[in-house]
Amino acid sequence: MKLQICVQTGVEAAVKREIERLGLGHAPAIRGRIELSGDWDTVARLNVFLRAGERVLVEVGKFPADTFDALYDGVRALCWEEFLTPHAHVLIDGKSFRSKLVAVKAAGGVVKKAIIDRLKERFRTNTVDERGERAVVGVSIFEDVATITLDTSGDGLHRRGYRVLTYDAPLRETTAAAIVEDSFYRRGKAFADPFCGSGTIAIEAAMYAKNVAPGKSRDFDFAHWKCVPKGVLAAVREEAKALEWSGDMGHVYASDLSPRAVEIAREHAKRAGVLGDITYSVGDMRKFSCAERYGVLVCNPPYGARMNDREDLFPLYRDLSKMFRALPAWSAYILSAYEGAQRALGRPDKRRILYNADLKCSLLAYYGEKPPLAPDGASLRD
Ligand SMILES: C[S@@+](CC[C@H](N)C(=O)[O-])C[C@H]1O[C@@H](n2cnc3c(N)ncnc32)[C@H](O)[C@@H]1O
Repeated sequence: MKLQICVQTGVEAAVKREIERLGLGHAPAIRGRIELSGDWDTVARLNVFLRAGERVLVEVGKFPADTFDALYDGVRALCWEEFLTPHAHVLIDGKSFRSKLVAVKAAGGVVKKAIIDRLKERFRTNTVDERGERAVVGVSIFEDVATITLDTSGDGLHRRGYRVLTYDAPLRETTAAAIVEDSFYRRGKAFADPFCGSGTIAIEAAMYAKNVAPGKSRDFDFAHWKCVPKGVLAAVREEAKALEWSGDMGHVYASDLSPRAVEIAREHAKRAGVLGDITYSVGDMRKFSCAERYGVLVCNPPYGARMNDREDLFPLYRDLSKMFRALPAWSAYILSAYEGAQRALGRPDKRRILYNADLKCSLLAYYGEKPPLAPDGASLRD
């Protein structure tokens, strides 16, 4: 099967590295999608193990479609009976770009009708009650070519299940995981988020260090599809559990000025199974220091949605810069939508654009002193 992984802009490289580590080879990224091929075991593996990907799709077909008739015929010609029952609850997620068919809602109606007509014909039935499995069908029309997909994930992969409470501007779990993946953080090194809010970054770091698969306990739409061999998901979940690390993993610190935020972060860490791996405290980031010489600091400070808030941000960011520069062997990764962030923090070693859901942010990276070489000659940072 042809598979596609949806990724947020800016995290393609992190997801590609994850795919390689899963032993699934080198996969190209095209317009927010990473393409690879695989079977249902691959689908289960990607859904359970990926940290930074947003969802996993099966490509059902691709064909030219510059009229509604062409779209109907193309969709009806696809083998829907191999994936769905006549009871499937079909939902359509459509988009069109640089194409003649711009009426996305109408195109969605045509696609749904074509799928239902095909299922009725192949299963020789007149009744489609939609009381069965959920199937979100993607219709992406680009330059008059329609790509039709089935979403195997269902709820987006950022929904790990641990974040049940909200506090001020939470970071998407997949974005936090992508930053951790891109940083030089490794098990055994110290890690800190001194603006932890609801706890996402430190939780993702602890899950990464412990090798906890983010999708190990949640549900996926494909698990309810008749076409998927029984036991595929259960086997991958078992494998994920066996791969968890139970030894020493170094220290992960998380703090916030707000006692309520820390309370929420602790609750989320408990649900994620990493409460015992994170040291929480309430306090101003200006007071953060650490006896460990090497470490990684990743944070997402307030960015000020209102004009008045923004005036207070410059001194906060300047103090943040002083704080992490007092830890010269630590690397710092600051994600922010505040336009004055770079002016206050100083010139970064690397800067790139990431999105927190739809909010455009800069990720500013400041590298610390390199650790000494390991006995085999490899840098401990690599
Ligand atoms: C954008 S939120 C962080 C969201 C977090 N990444 C999450 O996923 O939930 C910024 C956090 O910074 C905290 N904060 C603001 N000023 C602070 C300071 N001086 N020291 C420590 N925390 C501070 C706020 O209480 C808020 O929780």
